[in-house]
Amino acid sequence: MANKETKNETNKFQAIISHAKEYGFIFQSSEIYDGLSAVYDYGPWGSELKKNIRDYWWKSMTRMHDNIVGIDAAIFMHPTTWKASGHVDGFSDPMIDNKDSKKRYRVDHLIEGYADTLDKDAAEALLARMNQLLAADDLDGLKQLILDEKITCSVSGTSNWTDVRQFNLMFSTQLGSVSEEASEIYLRPETAQGIFVNFLNVQKTARMKIPFGIAQVGKAFRNEIVARQFIFRMREFEQMEMQFFIRPGTEEEWYAYWKEERMNWHLSLGFSPDKYRFHDHDKLAFYAKAAVDIEFEFPFGFKEVEGIHSRTDHDLSQHQKFSKKKLQYFDTEINQNYVPYVIETSIGLDRTVLMVLSEAYAEEDIPKEDGTKDSRVVLRIPPRVAPIKLAVLPLTKKDGLPEIARDLIKECREDFYCFYEEKDAIGKRYRRMDALGTPYCVTIDYQTKEDQTVTIRDRDSMTQERIPLDKVKEWVSLRIR
Ligand code: GAP
Repeated sequence: MANKETKNETNKFQAIISHAKEYGFIFQSSEIYDGLSAVYDYGPWGSELKKNIRDYWWKSMTRMHDNIVGIDAAIFMHPTTWKASGHVDGFSDPMIDNKDSKKRYRVDHLIEGYADTLDKDAAEALLARMNQLLAADDLDGLKQLILDEKITCSVSGTSNWTDVRQFNLMFSTQLGSVSEEASEIYLRPETAQGIFVNFLNVQKTARMKIPFGIAQVGKAFRNEIVARQFIFRMREFEQMEMQFFIRPGTEEEWYAYWKEERMNWHLSLGFSPDKYRFHDHDKLAFYAKAAVDIEFEFPFGFKEVEGIHSRTDHDLSQHQKFSKKKLQYFDTEINQNYVPYVIETSIGLDRTVLMVLSEAYAEEDIPKEDGTKDSRVVLRIPPRVAPIKLAVLPLTKKDGLPEIARDLIKECREDFYCFYEEKDAIGKRYRRMDALGTPYCVTIDYQTKEDQTVTIRDRDSMTQERIPLDKVKEWVSLRIR
């Protein structure tokens, strides 16, 4: 049974990937050149879905909180930033190479993959041992564990392993022409540092008082050695991060606050609470005092979508030290200068897109009136983030119906994304809109000409009702907020 379920889930995941391509959501980057591993492009509907999720997060963070403002910092930063933040020395993963196949593995992925083949108790014991060794940075111990368990390479089938070594995940490039004074810089591996180095600029110019937050959305880059699972782990991806600056000593209460606040944001998308869980980190990142992941149940199991981290004053103190500029705040309530502590919320935008697609995708049988069955693929995307909100479908291409449809679109398109379609039978057009996740379809028919009403169809229930043509905009607007 467990195996069957796993197989179904694997099939479902493959179906989602194919669907995302076929319906213009996500394409492999540079596909005509056979693609670039772990890099993806968003098509018309994927980019619209991604933008809607980004906007929803941005609004929830900035407009809905009096004390959070946004910034948009550059991807390139002074190279000392990454020395100060600890990424140059500490942002690495333990890797191991198989000497026969030359294939490189992330050690935790290699062991986890092997654990999947064991029974539950043995797998848990193995993973617990691995976590202990990872937490202790015991690279020799990790190699020994791989040898003791006789874990082999999936390509060569041998256990002819190198030692375990740490590999830095940052991409570097040269600023300026190489012949002149070239300087090595990095593509940022997280957006957070753009916020830290601007802490005082923002605090002073936006006249913020602690506690306050700075939010940012932007690209981040990591040279992930093992890039798997479609847009779950990419080399170029987008993060939505918020650093919340607080008085030292208040970190526990704010950590608890942001844990709850962020979980509530996820639940506001409308998916079942059973699909989420918190997972406390066994091994803390080099900057963190406490860290928890919000995990979501993807078709390949519960995995991290968002991290909430109590970062203490690590980053600001480090930038203060390396830049020799004071990054302090004068707290008038207690008459004290201090380097603020930080609670961070960090969510992957692409991972959230994958979360939405995974949960939205469904293959359904639909009973027909004659007793037979039809089927459909539907994306039950929450209406507020759906790419297209309303499809307007004239029943025929003649008799003035297209003109009524076009006028309705003109009325609504300022407020939400509308789509016009006149080709094919109406049933076929509904199926296409279901597959794109469009929550509402309006059909303009001959009755519309007589009494100025239309049928509006709900994607999920497939029920239809007749409403006045001049109420369509309001009807849809109320349901996509
Ligand atoms: N500033 C903290 C930070 O970057 P992280 O846990 O490394 O923390 C935060 O990353 C989030 O960014 C993750 O929860 C995940 O959603 C997303 N993320 C990280 N690496 C990613 C990758 N290679 N591809 C896609 N998303 C990624």
